Amino acid sequence: MMSVLFTPGYLSVLEGWILYRYAKKTPFPIVEIGSWVGRSTLFLAHGSLDGHGQKVYAIDTWLGSEEHEGMPELVTLEEKFDHNIASCGFDAPVVKIRGHSQEIDMSCIPSKIGFLFIDGSHDYNGVKADFNRFSPRVVHGGFVAFHDVADYAPGVKAFVENEMPEEWDLEIHANSLAVFRRCR
Ligand SMILES: C[S@@+](CC[C@H](N)C(=O)[O-])C[C@H]1O[C@@H](n2cnc3c(N)ncnc32)[C@H](O)[C@@H]1O
Repeated sequence: MMSVLFTPGYLSVLEGWILYRYAKKTPFPIVEIGSWVGRSTLFLAHGSLDGHGQKVYAIDTWLGSEEHEGMPELVTLEEKFDHNIASCGFDAPVVKIRGHSQEIDMSCIPSKIGFLFIDGSHDYNGVKADFNRFSPRVVHGGFVAFHDVADYAPGVKAFVENEMPEEWDLEIHANSLAVFRRCR
């Protein structure tokens, strides 16, 4: 578990621990949109291995989001993800899916998802499109988490605060991570 704490990325340790807990409890596959170099992916993978051993589907273009434009790191992003997953010290149950979340072939994604983590595009339409495309596959009693529900990401915040359908109940909002449970 230690190596994930040193994997760079955008999650606080508290947020990572929450992902770990939800990944641990789900008996269905886990889907992540937006992996960067694997910090959140590894928290999810650890949780899964300590729980039901479900696969973690990691979807990313490895080209960066709107806010990363021009960052020199982008050139080696995917290579760093591969390296971090391969050298984490355990056999991570990660299925890598390279592509845009709105364009990937949905037959690569399980028909039942236990935990969906959305951290790809941070603009309003991008978050909404990701929720609309993937959340119908989340099982009843399953979970969706959004990262960057905060003033610095107004599109994410607006969607999560105003547009979540009523069959989703807020379970926890800690730092900028909000987790909802599908109650119907
Ligand atoms: C903020 S980073 C994710 C951070 C990561 N979850 C962590 O723990 O550090 C956002 C990632 O989403 C990817 N991305 C952005 N929009 C995407 C989309 N529509 N489809 C797939 N990947 C996307 C970017 O390439 C980037 O790696």
